[in-house]
Amino acid sequence: MLAAVSIAEEILDLKRQRRAILLAHHYQRPEVQELADVIGDSLELSRKARNFQGDVIAFCGVWFMGETAKVLNPDRIVVAPDREASCSLVETCPVEPVRAFRREHPDHVIVSYINTSVEVKAESDILCTSRNAVQVVNSIPPEKPILFLPDRNLGNYVKRQTGRANMEIWQGACMVHATFPARRVAEARLEHPEAKVVAHPECPESVLAMADFIGSTSAIIEWCAASDAGEFIVMTESGVNFSLQRLAPHKRFFYVPNENCNCSECPYMRLNTLEKLRDCLQRLEPRVEIPEEIMRRALAPLERMLALK
Ligand code: 13P
Ligand code: SF4
Repeated sequence: MLAAVSIAEEILDLKRQRRAILLAHHYQRPEVQELADVIGDSLELSRKARNFQGDVIAFCGVWFMGETAKVLNPDRIVVAPDREASCSLVETCPVEPVRAFRREHPDHVIVSYINTSVEVKAESDILCTSRNAVQVVNSIPPEKPILFLPDRNLGNYVKRQTGRANMEIWQGACMVHATFPARRVAEARLEHPEAKVVAHPECPESVLAMADFIGSTSAIIEWCAASDAGEFIVMTESGVNFSLQRLAPHKRFFYVPNENCNCSECPYMRLNTLEKLRDCLQRLEPRVEIPEEIMRRALAPLERMLALK
């Protein structure tokens, strides 16, 4: 405990020296979220990264989120605690097949989920996050065919919500959300009959069909805090518990383990520790560095998304 306190102090000290801001996604370890200047979902963190004044952005999330911050802040230093903090969606969507699709289908609008590499973003027409995916697809003229990538569950959810028939969907999946079994949600509902079910749209359709509310991580947190209900079965990464307990300490939240790790933690997100955060602020490494041409091409679809209100 004593060691953890002193690491926290070192981090706060380094943060001041470096004129750094610490951004943390909701899936970070609680001790990392504790030190953050801003905790948020991918959309909120992108917006914060754009408006930041200072020299260094320390991004506690996964690597593609740091890349997004760098694209929005090409003149600032962006560091992240662990270079290996990838994402199964990024891994299922290499850039070459996306380039090939673009060549073969020049009429298609490519809508990329923010959970993609910066190279894939550079091949895209517009980006989206789980919070604004429906809005983004609705902003595209109905006659234009779409390729939505890479998350199939989010893509199918957006297709159902928008009624858009001319939308092809990449077959990527999140290793955390896509492996939540509907059977376990049904069991949790039997155990907690008063509880509302809230789910991230990366969950399978069978899980979403049981949900009282579907939304991004921040939207889930806001909905639970505002709800009259006192109990919730939460179908997303259990790091959201940090903000849920802060905002609604009198309510009860239950997490359903998935089939991958028998937990609901993202192994990539959990790679970031206080020790690695301190070291990255000290050494300013690992540092997000992206070729200028890729940054320039990735900025356009990102700006198009951010311009939507
Ligand atoms: P949010 O857009 O809700 O932050 O989700 C990001 C993510 O990685 C979900 O698994
Ligand atoms: Fe990627 Fe899934 Fe982890 Fe989110 S929870 S960062 S989508 S692997």
